[in-house]
Amino acid sequence: MNLKDAYIDFFVSKGHVQIPSSPVVPENDPSVLFNTAGMQPLIPYLKGEKHPLGTRLCDYQKCIRTNDLDEVGDKTHHTFFEMLGNWSLGDYFKEESITWSFEFLTEVLKIPSEKLAVTVFRGNDLVSADSFSASLWEKLGITKGHIAYMDENNNWWPNMELTGPCGPDTEIFYYRHDGDIPDIFDPEDENWVEIWNNVFMQYMHNPDNTFDSLPFKNVDTGMGVERTQAVLEGKDDNYLSSIWIDVIKKIEEVSNKKYEGNETSMRIIADHIRTAVFISADYASIKPSNTDQGYILRRLIRRAIRHAKKLEIDINSDFECAIANVIIDKYKKYYKELEDNKTVVLNVLKEEKIKFNRTLEKGLREFEKAIRNIEGNKIDANVAFRLYDTYGFPIELTVELANDNNLTVDVDGFNEKFKKHQELSRTASAGKFKGGLASNGEIETKYHTATHLLNAALKVVVSPDCHQKGSNITSERMRFDFSCDHKLTVEEKEKVEALVNEWISEGLEVTKEEMPKQKAVEIGAEHEFIDKYPDIVNVYKIGDVSMEICGGPHVKNTNELGHFKIKKEEASSAGVRRIKAILE
Ligand code: ALA
Repeated sequence: MNLKDAYIDFFVSKGHVQIPSSPVVPENDPSVLFNTAGMQPLIPYLKGEKHPLGTRLCDYQKCIRTNDLDEVGDKTHHTFFEMLGNWSLGDYFKEESITWSFEFLTEVLKIPSEKLAVTVFRGNDLVSADSFSASLWEKLGITKGHIAYMDENNNWWPNMELTGPCGPDTEIFYYRHDGDIPDIFDPEDENWVEIWNNVFMQYMHNPDNTFDSLPFKNVDTGMGVERTQAVLEGKDDNYLSSIWIDVIKKIEEVSNKKYEGNETSMRIIADHIRTAVFISADYASIKPSNTDQGYILRRLIRRAIRHAKKLEIDINSDFECAIANVIIDKYKKYYKELEDNKTVVLNVLKEEKIKFNRTLEKGLREFEKAIRNIEGNKIDANVAFRLYDTYGFPIELTVELANDNNLTVDVDGFNEKFKKHQELSRTASAGKFKGGLASNGEIETKYHTATHLLNAALKVVVSPDCHQKGSNITSERMRFDFSCDHKLTVEEKEKVEALVNEWISEGLEVTKEEMPKQKAVEIGAEHEFIDKYPDIVNVYKIGDVSMEICGGPHVKNTNELGHFKIKKEEASSAGVRRIKAILE
């Protein structure tokens, strides 16, 4: 049975509307590089905004989590995964959510209820113990011994530290072992595998650490496809399930080696190429680079190549495309972008491979040299950084090579250097942070201030969800990319233009204040991907119409700008519009 199809069919039969998977790169959420959970694209609706498709939704969502990159290579960790979810936006609550989960698991997936166990929330200062869910589970047939009350470290989603919509949850576990099922459920026993999480999302955790009730009670659920499919097929190694087996077979074929004995490298190649395929097929058009999502993509491809070398795969063959093709064929029915952008994906993989391969051998020699001369057993930050900077070695590659030689690496020292370097390269490429544009003549400075006014005016006239997605300034014009779901109407363009000109003629003062990045976020300063800024930032205010994190420079008063005119408005990429404008 196909888990994804069965899930969607089931929830559609319960009155849910299937919504499409959002892109892996969030369109309107600059706080994260990738969607990490099914609920992420739904945050505005969980907070109270009305969803155009109603109050019962379900989907399968592409998710990427790269913070435990090092763990990929074991049986269960993946950087990309699909999450099945069903949502109630102020519609049903615990009763239906739990009853349907039980029905889906026992009647559609035909899991015997003895093989299931659940955790429920034990209660804290904010929310009392979830005895309602516990008795409901019991009524449905889960024995008392298979219901565990746990604290907020286990049964609160996402967790008590993170801000955003949140709440207590009940988690469903499956006993994957063939032997006798224990009477008492022990969540620590690794034969009990968590397969589904039902969050009763009732709170908004604010940045100042207060909790507000959301305008209505929501349900947010998440079921990991890879894990559930593997346990249903009785596999304790995800890569042996039907999701992965064709990919592993292809790697066996191109390497002429067996999976057994080569598991780690084969899993890393399979996982990283799959994630690279999904990132580069995304409508955001991410390409390998040294910053943000592009850097993750680069690291994934390079690590896969390095493991291909370990397996003695001929790097000059098109092995990466052969593996990617298996993945594309497998998923294209669900994700059309894989087919549409196939040529782009294959080129990204191939070109990055060629680039990396040019320096890999030299880098490996450099590494050998460095460890011959090493004192002690730690590779210092300078060596790790040189391997990165000159030979393109992502840090995890250096760490892996070090491990192979029983050495460690000064990763903290590397990260410090890396961060400094990134800030410098961003300064150079974006003209930011050093208080200077790449070319910061008088006219460019004016355009820079006008960019802030335009950003603010779009929020007033078009939508508060318009955020900067890119900007480019020359002495001739400004270009501004922003998130927006429609082509601006003539009226919208005229209003935006008029508002910017009004602010210019009001002679608003432009002021600058330096502050920690966190504070700037808390006071609501506009920003792009927050990770790209240094720890201390400048916040520029224009009267009380605009407040943005920015390196400047800016004019002192808007009355210096002249007349603002929009020359063109066009599509930039999916969900992103582009305005070209001039000051005359
Ligand atoms: N948002 C919840 C999770 O990711 C369902 O586990």
